[in-house]
Amino acid sequence: MSEKPPICNYEGSDYQTSFWDQADRAYEDAVEAVALKRLLPNHGKLLLELGAGAGRNTPRYAGFDRVVLLDYSKTQLQQAQSRLGTGNKYIYVAADVYRLPFVAGLFDGATMIRTLHHMADAPKALQQVRSVLQENAVFILEYANKQNLKAILRYLLGKQKWSPFSTEPVEFAALNFDFHPRSIKRWLQDNGFEIQRQLTVSHYRMGLFKKIIPLKVLVWMDSMAQLSGNAWQLSPSVFSRNLAVGTNETAHPGSFFKCPQCDTALNDTAPLLICQKCGQEYPVDDGIYNFRLDDLN
Ligand SMILES: C[S@@+](CC[C@H](N)C(=O)[O-])C[C@H]1O[C@@H](n2cnc3c(N)ncnc32)[C@H](O)[C@@H]1O
Repeated sequence: MSEKPPICNYEGSDYQTSFWDQADRAYEDAVEAVALKRLLPNHGKLLLELGAGAGRNTPRYAGFDRVVLLDYSKTQLQQAQSRLGTGNKYIYVAADVYRLPFVAGLFDGATMIRTLHHMADAPKALQQVRSVLQENAVFILEYANKQNLKAILRYLLGKQKWSPFSTEPVEFAALNFDFHPRSIKRWLQDNGFEIQRQLTVSHYRMGLFKKIIPLKVLVWMDSMAQLSGNAWQLSPSVFSRNLAVGTNETAHPGSFFKCPQCDTALNDTAPLLICQKCGQEYPVDDGIYNFRLDDLN
């Protein structure tokens, strides 16, 4: 995979409104909330939310003292900021998952929900996530599962060419990938994560179910089905709680950002951070740190 994998750019997207607020996705949102509640630790200090978007899930991380919302899209972060505010609890960072601007061992928690499915180089993204986590930090990952019942059925009926059983990712639309659970497991292990628990999520993601079964009942049915997630994964979405293991690096007190270009630790001299080694400048505009090297060079 290339040094610089392509980025699925949400700049200017109305994703939160069109995909969530105006569409019939109360069920999907509610079952994700159930899964997150089951997997999140009760307390933590500093959580990194990767691909935070407009902050739909952020209020669910209330057990953490502070949350860093990271997204490549500045307009998504602006939307998050207008719903969550600019208080001390939230730090808004525009950056690329593949080039995280944080010192090693900074976070004791991280989440990545509905974001890995935009990663053409998923192992590289996971390696980046692991590098900014302390040992024993909890990483909650959601991924889109190619081995889901609908895909299996379509494949067996000859309505779909790609096999849901083979382990390579399938790119069903440009920069939208479904993954095989075995690949995810291998990549997590290869990159210093131990899978603690898996939940299968969104089993009843079908118009007919949503139409005939009351939302509360459907969410309850899904919350029961989630519990078989360690045994088999046949739902379109899978959540896992992973523990960061292996390297034991903890960030020095006071250090936080690093230059994503040359990896040197940066002093937080907002509204402008300047790398002492390579001279690269990183502005902070309206409370959003900008580490998007493509913009700045
Ligand atoms: C489908 S949205 C999910 C947003 C949020 N996690 C949610 O579940 O509502 C995916 C998000 O990932 C972000 N994203 C995609 N590729 C990225 C990358 N390479 N670095 C940082 N963010 C990225 C997009 O900008 C977008 O906001």
